[in-house]
Amino acid sequence: MNVYDSARMADVLAPVGYRPVDGPEDADMVILNTCHIREKAAEKVFSELGRLRALKRRKAMRGGRMILAVAGCVGQAEGAEIKARAPYVDMVFGPQTFHRLPDMVARADAAPQGADAGIFDTEFPAESKFDFLPEEQGSQGVSAFLAVQEGCDKFCTFCVVPYTRGGEFSRPAGGILAEARRLIAGGAREITLLGQNVNAWHGEAPDGAGRWGLGRLLRAVAELDGLGRLRYTTSHPGDMDDDLMAAHGEIAALMPFVHLPVQSGSDRILAAMNRKHRAADYLRVVDRLRQFRPDIALSSDFIVGFPGETDADFADTMALIERVGYAQAYSFKYSPRPGTPAADMDDRQVPEEVKTERLAALQALLNRQQLAFNRAAVGTAMTVLFDRPGRQPGQLLGRSPFMQAVHAAAGADRLGTLAEVRIERALANSLSGRLTAPAANQDAHAALEVTA
Ligand code: 5AD
Ligand code: SF4
Repeated sequence: MNVYDSARMADVLAPVGYRPVDGPEDADMVILNTCHIREKAAEKVFSELGRLRALKRRKAMRGGRMILAVAGCVGQAEGAEIKARAPYVDMVFGPQTFHRLPDMVARADAAPQGADAGIFDTEFPAESKFDFLPEEQGSQGVSAFLAVQEGCDKFCTFCVVPYTRGGEFSRPAGGILAEARRLIAGGAREITLLGQNVNAWHGEAPDGAGRWGLGRLLRAVAELDGLGRLRYTTSHPGDMDDDLMAAHGEIAALMPFVHLPVQSGSDRILAAMNRKHRAADYLRVVDRLRQFRPDIALSSDFIVGFPGETDADFADTMALIERVGYAQAYSFKYSPRPGTPAADMDDRQVPEEVKTERLAALQALLNRQQLAFNRAAVGTAMTVLFDRPGRQPGQLLGRSPFMQAVHAAAGADRLGTLAEVRIERALANSLSGRLTAPAANQDAHAALEVTA
């Protein structure tokens, strides 16, 4: 979402004369778009600010000016602390106000050189920024993000999102479809619909008559000419309705991969996390998805060491992982976040060394599963969307339908196209193989998704 937001900030700033540059060294403005989800991410902001302060000084000594801004969820949650710890920061704003950037920049410009501009905008405005953002200026390339939903009303006890991004909001379908059309016209072959809680999306239908759910929206986006692939992330198990799950069996462009965080396999911990589902509910969703799309690959987020987590709770998480069989996953040590209920469960915090041990065991199991999943691809042919140059010259890197990273020897002319690759080698986090057809015979737009 931050990658998407940063691209939209560039769109907002283009009309007032700013364009993105490669590095911060000589920039007229530097915006740090920040994440507050775990302590590590938030701490990075302050170390990065120290580095930028030196660049700002150097530029001032040459008679220039660098506007320094902190955007995103750290700005939202820690505006006062930023002001205290880094008074040389000119602007602090949150994820819901960046459509006001031109006005903020004008105010920063008007401040006397060397003075602290002190611009703060971390309110949750009544208006939606989506009604004020200009159309996308720059192409996102072959694989594009499109925010359809933001914020969250779930209030999991460990999570800052409902406080930093605000309450759940669904964009109307009409604006989403128009943006999808523009992304495709700009070269996107793959679109990923984004939301903190994307499957809770329930936006106004294009004709204004009633509301759609995400399954209906995916069907409408899939019908747009020129789109090869469709994905969505991130979903909450409680919002996986039958229409959305059925869409996986019906829409050819909808990739057979779902990121479906469970966080824990223990009902006791899930209740303490206020996840509003039990382990069995999650497994039912997984089974139902597999009914509609037997080859669907699953991914998840896990938190180890949530306050009060015992060895038995952790064993339940390991058992759930064994039962599901993941293609990939993200896992984290529980990180207490200021202002969230779990951070106040002082008496029950799990010791650091226990967290470390549990995370290592969990990641070892997930890595084994990922390697097994990748090995099963060896010998099959997969359609790969090449979206970047590979590590070696003459190589491209892309994604399989199941989100695996795939390397293959291919010329730069294949960049941005779908191509069939026969998989020859599997590592824990990537595959490699060779193209099945020479360049002349490949029609990128007509290539079929092969999900052997
Ligand atoms: N500590 C550790 N992990 C967290 N996440 C969210 N909040 C915390 C926290 N306080 C993880 C969850 C979520 C992912 C985006 O980040 O697993 O799904
Ligand atoms: Fe955070 Fe996701 Fe829970 Fe919402 S559903 S509070 S975004 S973890």
